[in-house]
Amino acid sequence: MGITEDRATIRAVATLRNTPKLPDQRERLVSAAPVEDDSSFELKLRPQRLGEFIGQAKVKENLAVAIEAARSRGEALDHVLLYGPPGLGKTTLATIIANELGVAFQQTSGPTLQIKGDLTAILTNLRDKQVLFIDEVHRLQPTLEELLYSALEDYKLDILIGQGPAARTHTMDVKPFTFVGATTRAGLLSAPLRSRFGIVLRLEFYSHEDLRIIVERSAEILGVEINKEGALEIASRSRGTPRIANRLLRRVRDYAQVRSAGNIDLPTSQAALQMLEVDRYGFDEVDRRLLLAIIEKYQGGPVGVNTLAAALAEEPDAIEEIYEPFLIQIGFLNRTPRGRVATQLAYDHFGITPNRRQSSLF
Ligand SMILES: Nc1ncnc2c1ncn2[C@@H]1O[C@H](COP(=O)(O)OP(=O)(O)O)[C@@H](O)[C@H]1O
Ligand SMILES: [Mg+2]
Repeated sequence: MGITEDRATIRAVATLRNTPKLPDQRERLVSAAPVEDDSSFELKLRPQRLGEFIGQAKVKENLAVAIEAARSRGEALDHVLLYGPPGLGKTTLATIIANELGVAFQQTSGPTLQIKGDLTAILTNLRDKQVLFIDEVHRLQPTLEELLYSALEDYKLDILIGQGPAARTHTMDVKPFTFVGATTRAGLLSAPLRSRFGIVLRLEFYSHEDLRIIVERSAEILGVEINKEGALEIASRSRGTPRIANRLLRRVRDYAQVRSAGNIDLPTSQAALQMLEVDRYGFDEVDRRLLLAIIEKYQGGPVGVNTLAAALAEEPDAIEEIYEPFLIQIGFLNRTPRGRVATQLAYDHFGITPNRRQSSLF
């Protein structure tokens, strides 16, 4: 290794030291992104019918009416787009739609579908009126998206047979079906794809009260005794997100088993969550560093998301999809055309006075 390479390595290491990498999403207790050991657990807790799905009243009502109408006409339900931050119930709703319609369910995702042949095979094998669920639909390749259009619009599929000058287009029929797409980033969806969805539903963060009911329901399925106050404490630190509420419940249950009689009340919840370092907003180290970076490094903002991402050694996408939505929802962060701005609430939370901003200008 030459001397220049050595210098480069030293510089790289120094840079890494100055911008310590944030913990991986999979290591974050309060991340809304699914964690590996969530899956079997989530399956058990996942509501199967619309009646078991808690909260999101508007979404449920819209779906109930559309499903009832499609059923009584004996037709496939219109295509459905579900969008909103991770962990709010998009996948759950997709399976519920199939259950309520009494039809088959098939699931794939934008990043998994790589070649036209895969999508063609799925579309030609569809069963009558079934649900085809594509998660992360904003990450579908443009060529596959185009292939989908005619299938979505009039249940036809154009296939190219042969190569070169001898190639011919052959149009095939596909069975009527319901396409359910889910995305955390509706803004990244192409206009033509978006226009093919007859039903567009946006999921919102859950209230503490709805999350309390979700925690109580999950505790019952898990066979854990929990009282109202204990459940509400977990609910209020779950960032409006059922996935996080269920995960925290599981950790509090462990604590209760080891440290108390096994049932969860307010003191047990509080002690467990304190041990897990989840504060009263459900913030962890990552949120604190994000907000402090804006306040301290950029005088409260505005700071562009790419700059912020670089300062935190994090992907801009992760900031926009996972960290930001909740901080905006609770009023700690504003998204302005010039970038992200920390609000008065954020300053108050850290006990910092915003007039640092003016003084730094002089
Ligand atoms: N409205 C709800 N009522 C009860 N549990 C819910 C609800 N929404 C989500 N969950 C729970 O949260 C978990 C994550 O939901 P999921 O549908 O996978 O979210 P998304 O697909 O939006 O990331 C599910 O396993 C389910 O147990
Ligand atoms: Mg999902």
